[in-house]
Amino acid sequence: MSEEATSAETSKASAKASDTTTAKRSPIIVCRKIVRSFWRAKERLDVLDELDLEIAEGSFEALMGPSGSGKTTLLNLIAGLDRPTSGTLTVAGTEVSAMGDAALARWRSQTIGFVFQHFNLIPVLTALENVELPLLLTSLGSSERKKRAQIALRVVGLEDRMHHRPQQLSGGQEQRVGIARAIVHDPKIIVADEPTGELDRKSADEVLHLLERLNKEFDKTILMVTHDPAAAERATVLRKLDKGKLL
Ligand SMILES: Nc1ncnc2c1ncn2[C@@H]1O[C@H](COP(=O)(O)OP(=O)(O)OP(=O)(O)O)[C@@H](O)[C@H]1O
Ligand SMILES: [Mg+2]
Repeated sequence: MSEEATSAETSKASAKASDTTTAKRSPIIVCRKIVRSFWRAKERLDVLDELDLEIAEGSFEALMGPSGSGKTTLLNLIAGLDRPTSGTLTVAGTEVSAMGDAALARWRSQTIGFVFQHFNLIPVLTALENVELPLLLTSLGSSERKKRAQIALRVVGLEDRMHHRPQQLSGGQEQRVGIARAIVHDPKIIVADEPTGELDRKSADEVLHLLERLNKEFDKTILMVTHDPAAAERATVLRKLDKGKLL
């Protein structure tokens, strides 16, 4: 996360915050007739079925739906980890469905922060080293990378745990490191796939509060998949997916 973002933290980014609470802003994610099919033996499975979706910049949206309904499949497409079988997908002004692998990887490393249900931290690395990892894909030097990783850990309230390894942290702390890693490159969009799925109520609430802050104070657009009604309640928009269609 950049120093500008840190100063935004202290100033509370008042202008931006009022933007997000007053007027509806233009869409930052636009899905048009998105199909994602998988083949099993000779059978084609249309996991997403001509899905249309617009998500406004600066919103905090929750996506719910039964297991197997296509939530992770949709998140992976929006995050540029996968490509649709057909349809167009425009994210932060870029048509990601038309990009080649290298360009897509570069775009993803600048635009998207991904938060995983199982944290996906590397056990032999400290919190600081885990958070620094996405910056290894950039041209930043070592001291700048460390500085930004420290800033991100400060934002999630874990500056005092930065030399701990994942096994020396609680589940809630591990997920906050996961969130620091997702924001260290200051992405516009955070996608979170069941970010509280592994956590007890108190840790889950801390993580949700942090996501709310990232949305309100840092103007991150957030799309969160969840099975937890209490988590969904924290979002400003709730969408439901069933059998590859939005209800
Ligand atoms: N790479 C793949 N190859 C084949 N089938 C897949 C693949 N990825 C997902 N699927 C299938 O697509 C369907 C939707 O999967 P997805 O992971 O998107 O569901 P989900 O809504 O995230 O479910 P959950 O709540 O259990 O995480 C499932 O039937 C799954 O088996
Ligand atoms: Mg899933």
